[in-house]
Amino acid sequence: MTVQEVVILSDEHQLQMELQTAAEALGEQQPRLRFVGDRRALMELVRSKPPGLVLAPFGDAPGEVARLAKELAAFDPPIALAAIFQPYGFPEDVSESSVLIDAMRAGTRDFLRRPISTTELRTLLDNLNATNGRASHPRSITFGRVVTFISNKGGVGKSTLAVNTAVGLARRHPGRVLLIDGSLQMGVAAALLDVQPESTLSDVAAERDRLDVTMIRQMATQTPYGVHLLAAPRDAVEAMEVDDTVLSRIITLARRTFDFVIVDTFPMFDRVVVATLDLSDRAYIVMENVVPTLLGVVKLLDVLERLGFPAERQKLILNRAQRIAGNLSQSDISARLGRTIDHVFPFDKQVIVAANSGEPMATRSIGLGFGGFLRPLRGLIDDIDSLGPRENRELPRIVHAVAIEDHSQKHEIR
Ligand SMILES: Nc1ncnc2c1ncn2[C@@H]1O[C@H](COP(=O)(O)OP(=O)(O)OP(=O)(O)O)[C@@H](O)[C@H]1O
Ligand SMILES: [Mg+2]
Repeated sequence: MTVQEVVILSDEHQLQMELQTAAEALGEQQPRLRFVGDRRALMELVRSKPPGLVLAPFGDAPGEVARLAKELAAFDPPIALAAIFQPYGFPEDVSESSVLIDAMRAGTRDFLRRPISTTELRTLLDNLNATNGRASHPRSITFGRVVTFISNKGGVGKSTLAVNTAVGLARRHPGRVLLIDGSLQMGVAAALLDVQPESTLSDVAAERDRLDVTMIRQMATQTPYGVHLLAAPRDAVEAMEVDDTVLSRIITLARRTFDFVIVDTFPMFDRVVVATLDLSDRAYIVMENVVPTLLGVVKLLDVLERLGFPAERQKLILNRAQRIAGNLSQSDISARLGRTIDHVFPFDKQVIVAANSGEPMATRSIGLGFGGFLRPLRGLIDDIDSLGPRENRELPRIVHAVAIEDHSQKHEIR
């Protein structure tokens, strides 16, 4: 079934013009557009002649869209709703991502950004046509998985693990994995992958108002290992361009076009990390078996709890594990944290060799005798792979970033 009729709940002249222009450019595929000024008229029209799609802008009361989505999803067959929004157009005290996520949960099918582009309109219609123009209720969302590596101590192996996990996943799913180097001021992913990116996260951030799924793919650097990379900014000044809002937007778009979005982070708990966690299906907390790190992890787990980041979305990795007198054993750590250690990576000299050569460990085969790091790496990759991309599922619960609002200055928690 092709969407032939689209009803738009708006009497804003400018929006009508934008939609008309975008639709005309679709040529033969162009649907008929009908504009209605208020909700009652909309419902009447929908009841008498159900359209293939309803479009509604987020107005002064952004929650209205969610309500409308629910109402339309209750029709049999359900009527698809897409919401129109102006990026960064919400009032200061309204969080764009929560509004969008609430709208999605309520059954909103998709989003169109102002100014309306023909490409986005076409993608939206194509997607609807592909699924027979029907919205399911509650809406089934298919997204890639977002996986983040964090620690509050530097040098524990986040980047090593993020890069190798991404490469390993990309060997199984070429072109379907994006690595985001969110270690903004000290990114090493490009070096570990031996690529010289033409554009970085700060270039992507500079396009914040135009960003869409296609741009994310285009601006990511392709690496010889099948994984795409959004590299860290070139220096600390450029890194300042990348804030939590734009990073959330990048991740939100990226998971629509990649099956896996792997995020490396900087060992400091700031808004950027919180925003990333907010969208993460899973966070791997990386640590070593030395006392100061363990004490740091205790605090980190506490902060995650206060932020409302659920324990079931956390997993623990013990990296560079070494049996040296004075080092803690795995069971000591488990007991102290009251948690299971999910993955243990030994110290392996080959990791350093691989880092220096720009050829990640994950490209090697276990059969070649590189058992040490590679065996648990395979386990970690299986773990993420088994999350299963593009399944119908609930969105992760939102972390309440307000919890750190009071002390918005970057602060390290040690
Ligand atoms: N299992 C391992 N065996 C041996 N060396 C390792 C292992 N894991 C990581 N390393 C080495 O430890 C160093 C630090 O690792 P990495 O850069 O991945 O840590 P990080 O947590 O990302 O650091 P930062 O907090 O500075 O971003 C690197 O030289 C890396 O090659
Ligand atoms: Mg790092």
